[in-house]
Amino acid sequence: MVHKQFYTLEVASVRKTTEDCTVVSFKIDDSLRELFQYHCGQHLTLKTTINGKEVRRSYSLCSSPLDNKWEVAVKKIDDGLFSTYLNEQLKSGDRLEVMPPSGRFFIESDASQAKNYAAFAAGSGITPVISIIKTHLIQEPGATFKLFYVNRHVGSIILKEEIEALKNYFLERFEVFYFLTQEERDVPLLNGRLTEEKLDTLFNRVVDREVISDYFLCGPEAMIFMIRNYLTNINVPEKNIHFELFTSESGAQKVKKAIMTSANGHDNCEVTILEGGKSFKFSLPQGSNTILDSALQKSADLPFACKGGVCCTCRAKLLEGKVDMAVHYGLEQDEIDNGYILTCQSIPLSEKVVVDFDH
Ligand code: FES
Repeated sequence: MVHKQFYTLEVASVRKTTEDCTVVSFKIDDSLRELFQYHCGQHLTLKTTINGKEVRRSYSLCSSPLDNKWEVAVKKIDDGLFSTYLNEQLKSGDRLEVMPPSGRFFIESDASQAKNYAAFAAGSGITPVISIIKTHLIQEPGATFKLFYVNRHVGSIILKEEIEALKNYFLERFEVFYFLTQEERDVPLLNGRLTEEKLDTLFNRVVDREVISDYFLCGPEAMIFMIRNYLTNINVPEKNIHFELFTSESGAQKVKKAIMTSANGHDNCEVTILEGGKSFKFSLPQGSNTILDSALQKSADLPFACKGGVCCTCRAKLLEGKVDMAVHYGLEQDEIDNGYILTCQSIPLSEKVVVDFDH
């Protein structure tokens, strides 16, 4: 059972890691500890009201579950309502609504294996990645990790102290390569963003394709897809490429396109939503909206965060009918095969659809 309701948590501490990045640590009461247990790489969905408007966002946990801490690192983005609030106003003792950890950006640790891993991250993409690195290095005494991390300049590297501390502690098992896009250094390979040519060089000189078992990618869509395609082209099996996007611009565009092209001759679709043991029915004009947005407009209280096909919070099972799902980055293939959909991305294609959020 996935817990998709919000709980009120107290902020234990708020600390700056760079000028525009804040680490928020939550207090978890004993009664909520089990519910808030998490895997490295998972995220929390936060909700609050800013200027009278409800705002929710998902942020990856940058702490490791082994730390017995619940910390998210939030980088302030231009015009980012929630990230500005967290960076400029939030203080310890404040309360926020928080959904228990979720997300599938992880693999299980196995102490009996000596696996070699590589991670590619950009900017705040480091937040789930540092949790993954720390957890695997601690839980798998034979594991190694190589991290390739892109930032604008040295001052903008978030969690740099934590990365360096890990590097010093796991001297033999953890290597970091910082790439800077707005600061020149002596090694040309490390100047500028990651490109296919740079990946060629890295795979010729520092990454042995034959020994790396799993790759973790987190950052902007264009970078993630470029690296994912590169890895696929050098025959890394898809099951060994794990990625998490910040947001998906193409997801929003594809939803719009899907809405425009979804009319199939039926005037209305009868939508039934099963949630929290209750059922809720409404009629949705063909081609007008996604299942999630139309249900929210009818005042349904459904779980969601990114609305971009990334966080998976709006996942539900399609019990009846047919939908067009614009993107499904957060879903595994076996979930899709088993009828799971992202309701923020799904446009009904049949006269009737039944969607179950309780699965
Ligand atoms: S709300 Fe994030 S995937 Fe739908």
